[in-house]
Amino acid sequence: MSENNLKWEEDYLDKNDFNTLLGQKGCVLWFTGLSGSGKSTLAKAMQKALFELKKYAVVLDGDNIRHGLNKNLSFSETDRNENIRRVSEVCKLFTDHGAIIVTAFISPFRQDRINAKDVIGEDNFIEVHVSTPLEVCIKRDVKGLYEKAIKGEIKNFTGISQPYEEPKSAKITINTDEEELEFSIKRVIEFLKKDGYLG
Ligand code: PPS
Repeated sequence: MSENNLKWEEDYLDKNDFNTLLGQKGCVLWFTGLSGSGKSTLAKAMQKALFELKKYAVVLDGDNIRHGLNKNLSFSETDRNENIRRVSEVCKLFTDHGAIIVTAFISPFRQDRINAKDVIGEDNFIEVHVSTPLEVCIKRDVKGLYEKAIKGEIKNFTGISQPYEEPKSAKITINTDEEELEFSIKRVIEFLKKDGYLG
């Protein structure tokens, strides 16, 4: 019993039982990169590719999570820290039950991603840097947010008025300006197979 009178309730099955049941190893594919870099597109395509292999994959996307669970958080540094902290805990709960989680969060701060890796467990955390350059994201401006940010109409905008700290040792790097989606997905699937995540 902890000092605040809480006790961790053990599951009926353990982590290995879930992995055996589902024929996969619970893990997180953590896509990080600028707004408009291609994270959401990659995450959805990953889920489709995994379903085609009969694997159970859940997508957690920044925009969606901020509609519900994290709707009270802004884009200040402190709130982004909290966004990633909560998401990491959710990821941990799912990976302990055999799910493959595909996340699409800007997650601009290196320390937040390190914390996420620590919560989820190093073996189950696969950092994927979506390295599409800022100039390309500005040019794409799919949601019109860069235009507003450059005019000063959105504060704390990643890459414009707030930093993006690039990963130093991502397991996979994808520049969506230079590589076809299909090929990127194939590379990630190969990585998962080689490292034994797909049973
Ligand atoms: S973070 O940094 O991980 O907490 O951000 P995330 O939860 O992924 O949310 C990013 C999406 O929020 C929209 N948006 C902004 N992005 C960056 N900076 C500011 N100030 C901002 N305001 C709103 C935007 O649609 C992001 O989605 P993506 O898919 O990354 O473009």
